[in-house]
Amino acid sequence: MSRAATTVLGAPVERREGREKVAGHARYAAEHTPSGCAYGWPVPAAVARGRVTALHTAEVLELPGVIEVLSHENAPRLGEPDDPTLRLLQDDRVPHRGWHIALVVADTLENARAAAVALRVDYATEEHDVLLTDRHPGLYTPEEANGGYPAVRERGDFEGAYAAAGVRVDTSYSLTALHNHPMEPHAATAHWHDGRLTVWDSSQGSGSVRDALAQLFGLDRTQVTAVSEHVGGGFGSKGTPRPPVVLAAMAARHTGRPVKVSLPRRQMPAVVGHRAPTLHHVRLGAGADGRITALAHEVVTQTSRVKEFVEQAAVPARVMYVSPNSRTVHRVTSLDVPTPSWMRAPGETPGMYALECAMDELAVATGLDPVELRLRNEPDTEPDSGLPFSSRHLAECFRVGRDLFGWQHRVDAPGVTREGDLLLGTGVAASTYPVYITPSSATAHAGRDGIHRIRVNATDIGTGARTVLAQIAAEALDVPLESVSVEIGSSDLPRAPLAGGSSGTASWGWAVHKAGALLAERLAELGGELPAEGVTVTADTREETSAEPTHARHAFGAVFCEVQVDTVTGEVAVRRMLGVYAAGRILNARTARSQFIGGMTMGIGMALMEGSTMDERFGDYAECDLASYHVPVCADVHSIDARWIEEDDPHLNPMGSKGIGEIGIVGTAAAVANAVRHATGVRLKELPLTPDKVL
Ligand code: MOS
Repeated sequence: MSRAATTVLGAPVERREGREKVAGHARYAAEHTPSGCAYGWPVPAAVARGRVTALHTAEVLELPGVIEVLSHENAPRLGEPDDPTLRLLQDDRVPHRGWHIALVVADTLENARAAAVALRVDYATEEHDVLLTDRHPGLYTPEEANGGYPAVRERGDFEGAYAAAGVRVDTSYSLTALHNHPMEPHAATAHWHDGRLTVWDSSQGSGSVRDALAQLFGLDRTQVTAVSEHVGGGFGSKGTPRPPVVLAAMAARHTGRPVKVSLPRRQMPAVVGHRAPTLHHVRLGAGADGRITALAHEVVTQTSRVKEFVEQAAVPARVMYVSPNSRTVHRVTSLDVPTPSWMRAPGETPGMYALECAMDELAVATGLDPVELRLRNEPDTEPDSGLPFSSRHLAECFRVGRDLFGWQHRVDAPGVTREGDLLLGTGVAASTYPVYITPSSATAHAGRDGIHRIRVNATDIGTGARTVLAQIAAEALDVPLESVSVEIGSSDLPRAPLAGGSSGTASWGWAVHKAGALLAERLAELGGELPAEGVTVTADTREETSAEPTHARHAFGAVFCEVQVDTVTGEVAVRRMLGVYAAGRILNARTARSQFIGGMTMGIGMALMEGSTMDERFGDYAECDLASYHVPVCADVHSIDARWIEEDDPHLNPMGSKGIGEIGIVGTAAAVANAVRHATGVRLKELPLTPDKVL
């Protein structure tokens, strides 16, 4: 490897679009305003279940600036979507509160909003059922859980081994629904011109937006362009096409004008997905030495009537610990609730909360230090598949973290470390996240101007993807970083997967690396003599990424945390937190650290303040804005740091990287909860740990 190559990849390079963003020049989906643009304001259903029997549209059509009211009565007929949550304004059915039943289109945003609020709607309501319990009569075992994982896995004889175990932990944890709430709400601007549709959409993957619109409107994919140049976060909620882009395109087709639909934040919780509530039953059987002989993780969750989505929360228990006898089960019921979907590390986040709290209980039951307990349960191969790990440095994460954090100063006894009215405690938990890689394509072009142009429909949702792809190209081409330009964020670019499943950089990067290497070869052949139009190569990784896995591939981490619990107010604060990760090769030290501590911060939110409360009578979650759904602010985050172990793993991709976007949140809430237990001596099993629960 040349000098340029070894210094560019891994370096803490600043985000390429950072200056543009802070200066306000970077344009987001709602900031594109084609001439003649109208504004759409969606109307959410005001009942939890039933039918729309009348829309009094004549009244609002008289209001200032109103152009049209779209509803099931007059909206364009759509093709059948793969995703039923996009079957919008096609019939009178209300499957849950907040489901969009109309769209008011007006000349200004204010006029659209005023008319939407004024629209009178009559409903025929039906009784609704919105409360999840582990005895819900509708519970069933699905075929599979999100991610294509089998819903049930059994190995060995769990019941027998558990009954025979010297130490047993039988425990239950419950998690409320959580909502993604990215800073930039979902928004789209749609423009029909010359039989073509162009949309600017806030999405994690404009390729699937393009495909969905083509399907819904009966177009060829080449007739649709979806642009997602800058995106203000998503956390999974923008991983699939969402109602605003469909409503905008419908309204634009119907009115003959470009239309912009920017989702009001209060409407987001019902229509862009969220983390479903989960109920966990965990049983661990172990010897006196702490070695696990039996492990069961059984999860109950809910989905909507619109679509089956099953949070795969028992899946990490198939990966983490030695467990010769194991049972992992998901059961689900359909309720009259909004449709859940991906939220940062779906499956791993709730699953590892329950499993890692249960491990803390096992540490107490066996009298072992929680770090030592985990080290004793490191498996040689992935327990579920029997495959060898491509790399697994969880034990190193624990050892490094233990020293850096000063774990050896911990007083074993809980509830005894005081500072005035404060009780102090420390906690630890493991993290894990799978390595996903999907096929991508990319092109690389070298021009006589000395610029190397990379084109790939990647999406930068704030992570620094653009910058890292430039670093990957510079390494593959062995050229200075400044000579690389990167074009991303449009479905007209070479086809590429979404920014999701922590797979973006590995998937796009592989294609970029391949294109870069091919271009370097071509340039070497040409010996510096470039034709006027330059040289272009195209790379596709369908073949490389389709191979049957020979190794189990996961990133791992260890999270350490110190909390203070105010015995007067019941407030919990995280004093310091350290995450140590093993995620392959880290490609940009600056943006990687920001992903890790961002995920950890979201884990603090999950532990201490985030939570959505189902109001049974109302039929929806009570928290629907940032005044009621509390997320951590800077004042909630004291000392936080992330470190990593450099892994050299040849079984991943040419860069040697694993994903880093999601692992930071995994395990973090358990580390906080375990620290609160250590501080107080009391184990609280329901998050978030708000003062009312703590006191
Ligand atoms: Mo992530 S929840 O796959 O955007």
